[in-house]
Amino acid sequence: MVSYKELGLVNTRDMFSRAINGGYAIPAFNFNNMEQLQAIIKASSDLKSPVILQVSKGARNYANPTLLRYMAQGAVAYAKELGCKHPEIVLHLDHGDSFELCKNCVDLGFSSVMIDGSSLPYDENVALTKKVVEYAHQFDVTVEGELGVLAGVEDEVASEVSHYTKPEEVIDFTTKTGVDSLAISIGTSHGAYKFKPEQCTRDPKTGRLVPPPLAFDVLDEIMKKLPGFPIVLHGSSSVPQEYVDIINANGGKLPDAVGIPEEQLRKASKSAVCKINIDSDSRLAFTAAVRKTLAEKPAEFDPRKYCGPARDLMEVMYKHKIIDVLGSDNKLAQLD
Ligand code: G3H
Ligand code: 13P
Ligand code: ZN
Repeated sequence: MVSYKELGLVNTRDMFSRAINGGYAIPAFNFNNMEQLQAIIKASSDLKSPVILQVSKGARNYANPTLLRYMAQGAVAYAKELGCKHPEIVLHLDHGDSFELCKNCVDLGFSSVMIDGSSLPYDENVALTKKVVEYAHQFDVTVEGELGVLAGVEDEVASEVSHYTKPEEVIDFTTKTGVDSLAISIGTSHGAYKFKPEQCTRDPKTGRLVPPPLAFDVLDEIMKKLPGFPIVLHGSSSVPQEYVDIINANGGKLPDAVGIPEEQLRKASKSAVCKINIDSDSRLAFTAAVRKTLAEKPAEFDPRKYCGPARDLMEVMYKHKIIDVLGSDNKLAQLD
């Protein structure tokens, strides 16, 4: 059993309450490899932003759970080396799908876990979430639950259509389970194809797809029921068209990829939404830089020569999210 406190990590409680009161959101960036982690820590440390490092079940399988935990521990040391004396870094399990997986992460030194029972019948979601909360809270590990179903793939759970969170359920769910934050469904979805072309209109000037707006009326209803309660948005990549264009111009094939417009995420960040999940944009930045570098330098075979530019582009993207979308720069509790 390792306590996250020994690793220099923090849970989400304090940073979420500051984010809600301050009208900004904390970035939750997924990582699977060293370059993503380096870019996340460089961006958040340079900008003095609290940050949530998210590890999915797929990331654990890809990188090895123990190694990921030590990488997060290394991230704290790296942030300090970069001049951030008091970093606030959360190591969070993304889309935990069983009590055993959540327990394993708590025992390994994670400071926060998500139990995603959103695809279960309501009563089973409540029971599973409550069980995880009871275990995690013994160690001051915070827990995120989910109500409502996002379209797209949530690890092994795939849904064709989204079901918005029902505002009439949120009080009962949060009271019975004791969760610290609640992921909701208001029209976001995972991946780089968040909307089908038939759900969108087309900008006549650019020919680009323009997605339908998020259901801010549902968010408002939820906030009325749960004043001041931390809300989480999954599936919040914007799928920057510049990265999609670079990928497509260099041998890739991502037709009609579309994400959540940034102005909608900016609006959400000012509300009780205090955690915004971004994974796909990092994948797109990485892939764009690798494809471009290899297309321009076909003789290159040193991975540092194409993973380096990928890391740089991800850092630019993370910094843009922190400053221009979520507003979490200069929000560490101790800035000196
Ligand atoms: O919510 C899904 C995250 O983007 C993680 O994706 O399960 O492919 O690692 P993954
Ligand atoms: P995106 O696919 O929009 O980046 O969402 C990531 C996410 O929600 C991780 O849990
Ligand atoms: Zn998610």
